[in-house]
Amino acid sequence: MVKLNIVEKALVNNPFRALAQRHFETPRLMALGGPCPGACALEIGGGQGEGARLIREQFGAAQVFSLDLDFEMVRRARRRLGDTPGVLCLQGDCTALPLADQSVDALFDFGVVHHVPQWQDAIDELDRVARPGATLYAMEVYRSLICHPVWKRVLTHPQENRFDQAEFVAAWEARGWTLLGEKHLGSGLGWLAMQKGRP
Ligand SMILES: C[S@@+](CC[C@H](N)C(=O)[O-])C[C@H]1O[C@@H](n2cnc3c(N)ncnc32)[C@H](O)[C@@H]1O
Repeated sequence: MVKLNIVEKALVNNPFRALAQRHFETPRLMALGGPCPGACALEIGGGQGEGARLIREQFGAAQVFSLDLDFEMVRRARRRLGDTPGVLCLQGDCTALPLADQSVDALFDFGVVHHVPQWQDAIDELDRVARPGATLYAMEVYRSLICHPVWKRVLTHPQENRFDQAEFVAAWEARGWTLLGEKHLGSGLGWLAMQKGRP
């Protein structure tokens, strides 16, 4: 299991990360993919739980399964979210999801797939649980940042088999998904929305 190192844990477990997710990332993802009212949503790598809150409040999902590999993160998310209705925080691996085929309307990836050594396995799993017409909302971090000489000393990410935004989009397209829209910040960071099947 590849856990976040102490620096990255500090970067994602704080009120500023929550504010960035709310005021910077959510508006971008919303502009690209629109809301998902009444959806059954899955968030992978839910971290401290802010994503799940936003998926309910801002995107309008009825039910959110927020899954994280690291049980410490799950505990933190549960503590922060209390008994927010419609949110279930679970420990689990996004390459082996505890969900039935075609059971989810919306997938959320706030900076998680780049942590998975065999990231293509995660995409296979996410594709498996997504219903036809489901929307993917993703913020991802790419090879140029992950493998940068400075960042690879500070953060702990797999260094092999990384991807850029075009390769990430192509991997979804190869599984029958269509790009709804994308944005990026340099070559290291990007947002995108995709739909399963043809819109
Ligand atoms: C960079 S943090 C992002 C946390 C949160 N999504 C955010 O935006 O603040 C990546 C998260 O993914 C989790 N993670 C890493 N590999 C995972 C996997 N294979 N399945 C599920 N979660 C995973 C980590 O434990 C961590 O909480």
